[in-house]
Amino acid sequence: MIPTPFYSHISDEDFLSIYEPSEDTFLLIDTLEKEQHILKSQKPLICLEVGSGSGVVITFLAKITENKSFYIATDINLNACICSKKTGHENNVYVETHCDSFASSMMQRLQGNIDILLFNPPYVLTPSEEIGKKDISAAWAGGKDGREVIDKFLPQAINLLSPAGFFYIVLIKENKPYEIISFMHDNGFHGEVVAERKSGPENLLVIKFSRS
Ligand SMILES: C[S@@+](CC[C@H](N)C(=O)[O-])C[C@H]1O[C@@H](n2cnc3c(N)ncnc32)[C@H](O)[C@@H]1O
Repeated sequence: MIPTPFYSHISDEDFLSIYEPSEDTFLLIDTLEKEQHILKSQKPLICLEVGSGSGVVITFLAKITENKSFYIATDINLNACICSKKTGHENNVYVETHCDSFASSMMQRLQGNIDILLFNPPYVLTPSEEIGKKDISAAWAGGKDGREVIDKFLPQAINLLSPAGFFYIVLIKENKPYEIISFMHDNGFHGEVVAERKSGPENLLVIKFSRS
């Protein structure tokens, strides 16, 4: 058992503006733990978490890959970036953070170079107008079918992944995961459901993509 990174430095007040680790976060962490042997044997050089929030997931990834890679975290919410760096620091992990939508400003440099890519996206079904803010609502507002942010990111994910790279994404059933698997398949990726969990009204799942 690898413990969840410490995050007691994050106050209740901080969680008014930063996503508090929840069932979806822990499902992604548990999935990475389950996959740790595959991830370690891949010897990843560059790992990226998009939408890192508190920073516990990228910090956990660093722990299971023995802190041997370069760990980058981005978030559209500046407070989340500051917090992710601090969470890394509190757990003896160096996390390079960048306040950005996805990894847009680094695409040219990073494309084809990300060995492990993670995204626990805003997947909740909301009116489209709720999308695009840089505050706590960015943590959940997913627009139509909860897919609007996800669908914008998928082409970037395709470009970012290294030839042997893995991409893990959290979804709920309402996001129509099999459409996403089909889209990625058409772009040369194999997708499989590697974890599922029911949490209250949410049917959470994690899909792992790799090049076919
Ligand atoms: C569901 S929360 C997940 C936070 C954290 N990864 C976790 O698992 O606890 C989604 C995160 O994505 C961020 N986010 C939303 N849209 C984004 C975008 N276009 N680019 C980068 N981050 C984004 C939010 O600010 C939020 O921190």
